Amino acid sequence: MTSDSDATRVVRAGLPEEQPYEPPLPGPVFAAHYHLPGDVGDAPYAYGRDANPTWTALESAIGELESPDGGPRAGGTGVHTVSFASGMGAVSAVLLSRARPGSAVVLPDDGYNLLVPVRERLSELGVEVRTAPTAGDAQLGLLEGASLLWIESPSNPGLDVCDIRRLADAAHERGALVAVDNTLATPLGQRPLELGADFSVASGTKALTGHGDVLLGYVSCRDAGLAGSVRQWRKLAGAIPGPMEAWLAHRSLATLDLRTHRQAAGALAVARALLDRPEVTGVRHPGLPDDPAYGTAVRQMRRFGCVVSFTLPGKEHAERFLGALRLVDEATSFGGVRSTAERRGRWGGDAVPEGFVRMSVGVEDPDDLTADVLRALDVAAAERPRS
Ligand SMILES: Cc1ncc(COP(=O)(O)O)c(C=O)c1O
Repeated sequence: MTSDSDATRVVRAGLPEEQPYEPPLPGPVFAAHYHLPGDVGDAPYAYGRDANPTWTALESAIGELESPDGGPRAGGTGVHTVSFASGMGAVSAVLLSRARPGSAVVLPDDGYNLLVPVRERLSELGVEVRTAPTAGDAQLGLLEGASLLWIESPSNPGLDVCDIRRLADAAHERGALVAVDNTLATPLGQRPLELGADFSVASGTKALTGHGDVLLGYVSCRDAGLAGSVRQWRKLAGAIPGPMEAWLAHRSLATLDLRTHRQAAGALAVARALLDRPEVTGVRHPGLPDDPAYGTAVRQMRRFGCVVSFTLPGKEHAERFLGALRLVDEATSFGGVRSTAERRGRWGGDAVPEGFVRMSVGVEDPDDLTADVLRALDVAAAERPRS
């Protein structure tokens, strides 16, 4: 069987066999329960918290994209995917469903800031929590006796990258499972299961759905048993996606290649332009050849994502910059078609300087966007209060 490129695969991922007079992507199924005659047995759809045909289609689409070999449609093996109401639903399903008193979990100390309260919850449950930075594969030193390694690469918001295969091999040698948060890269930018991970976990709220109007999460695994335990957790927690959200997500996948391709090009253009500004320090983007993450990123990523991080001389300077942008909304989250940026320090959860800005590049023309960013930097510098 020929293997199609990502641009082609996303257009049909998860679509049912063609049926005369049926839509290519069936509409959302709104059902709390299904007709269920006689014994329950292996009924595929019984109750709305357990399964829904709209999730099934989305899950098979994401499974195709996360699959190391393209999934059954490309003649490969299947990947099991479980969709959730949000990225945190998916993150909690893996971390909390596996939490056992006395076990040890290795996490990054620079990942998404809600991992901090999750770490606290794990400790309360009697789990030994070990943390190390993403850069330099520093989590390697903490694996002895661990049951789970959690990786976030690239990390949010610092954009450090670690060698997923190296860490996964080391974790497996010690009997630990490996989960990778693939939110920033999306399955078109990086395939953690191909790099050895047991779980690829993501917030679909970001670039996967890409329009800033849906909250969603998912977990993909090659092992049916692991996927089953995550599915069981979803059932118990009730962290299920709405059918409308699942359908919107599936519809958005057709443009995932176009969107992420343009966003990555725009992010690189903005990052390059920032490098020439004396007031901007710490520009990070994994696609910049001089970035500390570049060497590893280029080996394991196929596109470098839409996020650029950098630091301005202080809180007020960063706020003046954000206020002067015309094409970039001041907003949190990332991955959407419209560019956004924010001062991450305002949340208080990330170890970043006050002037640290995380910018998410949308699908605007990269030249227009770069011009807007440079103009806003000029405005922010000109308005600097005299001391
Ligand atoms: C890397 C990463 N993982 C997980 C999440 C959680 O996703 P959600 O907001 O969909 O719950 C986020 C949210 O920003 C994130 O950036």
